[in-house]
Amino acid sequence: MMARNKKLLLLPGDGIGPEVMAEVRRVIDWFDKERALGFDIEEGLVGGASYDQHGTPLTDGTMDLALECDAVLFGAVGGPKWDDLDFSVKPERGLLRLRKDMDLFANLRPAVVFGPLAEASTLKPEIVRGLDIMIVRELTGGIYFGEPRGVETLPDGTRRGVNTEVYTTPEVERVGRVAFELAKKRRGLLHSIEKANVMESGLMWREDMQALHDREFSDVELQHMYADNAAMQLVRDPQQFDVMVAGNLFGDILSDCAAMLTGSLGMLPSASLGAADETGRRQALYEPVHGSAPDIAGEGKANPIAMLTSYAMMLRYSFDMPEEAGLVETAIDNVLAGGLRTGDIMQTGKARVSTKVMGEAIVAELNQVAEAA
Ligand code: IPM
Ligand code: MG
Repeated sequence: MMARNKKLLLLPGDGIGPEVMAEVRRVIDWFDKERALGFDIEEGLVGGASYDQHGTPLTDGTMDLALECDAVLFGAVGGPKWDDLDFSVKPERGLLRLRKDMDLFANLRPAVVFGPLAEASTLKPEIVRGLDIMIVRELTGGIYFGEPRGVETLPDGTRRGVNTEVYTTPEVERVGRVAFELAKKRRGLLHSIEKANVMESGLMWREDMQALHDREFSDVELQHMYADNAAMQLVRDPQQFDVMVAGNLFGDILSDCAAMLTGSLGMLPSASLGAADETGRRQALYEPVHGSAPDIAGEGKANPIAMLTSYAMMLRYSFDMPEEAGLVETAIDNVLAGGLRTGDIMQTGKARVSTKVMGEAIVAELNQVAEAA
């Protein structure tokens, strides 16, 4: 019997999304040709691109495709063109619906400093060299989805805006388990982030994480930290962290901060995972953290590396192919060591190249790395 090809859905989206996705295509083709890793590929619209075509940032048909396939590769959504749209059809709603309907509660955002880029960070190289942090962000709850929400006009004409931070213990525990499991495979240290000093839901988060630790993960060291302090510690001494776990909003903010330690937002990939079913299969979406960068869209300036490392995360987490993932990462490391840079990570004495040249160089390097392996 022939094994069924794995099915991928590519959602390039808006802004620089299509440009960085085009470079992933190159890598997909390389693995197809050189490693007989054939995927059945579907492509769909999301965000503003979908709104322009269908009047909605995600159609039901595309949502169904996402649920059916083995993994989704996502580019980016949003841009000033759609700023004035009603909240319900903003490009970002497409991404939020994917996360919610696929139940992708665990968002893994690794902040790793590639050796050749230690000098490209805005922080001193000795602070970031060798940095390897994994941020686990809860992705389907908290203030992003909590009810009540909205803006109302009071009888006296005053407007009142509301969003609600909500977590249940099972929601805290399921993301907590993912974080503890990752910590176990790494340095065995987990920082849990909240504002237990001002938020009841934060205090509950802290208590639930502690109880989970004591019950199931006493072999991992658990530290609790307030979110504001965590932001400060990330830029003061990031190496103190191994794995960090946070709710949706704090995780959003801290992961941007951590991304910048690595030299550029253009370097940070992410994996968004659901729960595993009986067969071990889980819903999964992979996306760069950088967003749509409308200011440079269409100019060939975007850094494709976060999109390519997102693809590597897909190989690792959806298809259990750590060696193949490693090939991609090594090729990137080598190309950076060779001195090629997109604008966002440009340093004096290095060669500034376009999105496409960077992608092509990484694919060429894949050949070298595969031969040497
Ligand atoms: C992210 C982004 C999204 C978020 C936006 C685009 C909805 O900032 O993935 O970090 O806030 O979650
Ligand atoms: Mg963000």
